Amino acid sequence: MDAPSSLPSRVRRRLARATPTGRRLAETEAQLARARAELRDARGRLKQARSRITEARHDLPTEVDAVIDRVREERLTFLSRRDLRNLAALARDVEARGVPGEVIEAGAALGGSAIVLAAAKAPERPMRVYDVFDMIPAPSERDGDDVHRRYETIRDGQAKGLGGDVYYGYREDLLAEVSASFARLGVPPAEHRVELVKGLFEETITGDGPVALAHLDGDWYDSTMTCLERIAPRLSPGGRLVLDDYYAWSGCRRAVDDYFRGREGYALQERARLHVVRRG
Ligand SMILES: C[S@@+](CC[C@H](N)C(=O)[O-])C[C@H]1O[C@@H](n2cnc3c(N)ncnc32)[C@H](O)[C@@H]1O
Repeated sequence: MDAPSSLPSRVRRRLARATPTGRRLAETEAQLARARAELRDARGRLKQARSRITEARHDLPTEVDAVIDRVREERLTFLSRRDLRNLAALARDVEARGVPGEVIEAGAALGGSAIVLAAAKAPERPMRVYDVFDMIPAPSERDGDDVHRRYETIRDGQAKGLGGDVYYGYREDLLAEVSASFARLGVPPAEHRVELVKGLFEETITGDGPVALAHLDGDWYDSTMTCLERIAPRLSPGGRLVLDDYYAWSGCRRAVDDYFRGREGYALQERARLHVVRRG
């Protein structure tokens, strides 16, 4: 017999479980809930796998692929070949769609991803590359333990570069090195309208012109928040931000969540990196 419907649902559930049929029903319901959760996870994994396959299939000019190969051979970035091809494809895409505005990279380190973006965009489209080209600034209390642990390693002189190279933050003149790397890889900054801007984002990112594509790779909360505040409002309709560190560093993730919470006019897309596209 069913428990009277006037009883609270918690009590009705307990009474139902007191009979063998009720117990079987409760078990079946629990199995169903688990199956639904597994299905949700599988759908999420499938979506990510699909976007990875699409992103890996880009058709890039051979000279851009050649620059990507050189950047990887010369250990100018921690980004994978696939990540670099994705960035190059986004630069080609703003050209194909005629999205107005400059290309920005904030956080260049040895210049690897910036060189790829510069090689992929049209030479006449201006690009600005912002970096302190020195030691990364300290994180703040808005960054998590992961960030503070990483920063301590860097500050204590213990960080290692790729393949045992000297970590980029300890180099004598990183700006000159990056400038030389652009030229050596066949993308001289002056001929590709690229400006390398040395200094803290807080002091250097000051323009108000339109932006077609920005690769934000400044790792920490304050660096990311500064970039978002100064660049997101300048995005052209259809323009895009790529947040390199959203899945990697707690502070970046928090800054992005804080900035876009309740803010209209932007679509967030979960790809291999987080993308933000200006609607319109
Ligand atoms: C992860 S690295 C960039 C890597 C590069 N995009 C690549 O993959 O080829 C981050 C860079 O951002 C710089 N950076 C972080 N916060 C900054 C800030 N507030 N102002 C200027 N540079 C900053 C660091 O010094 C470092 O060179």
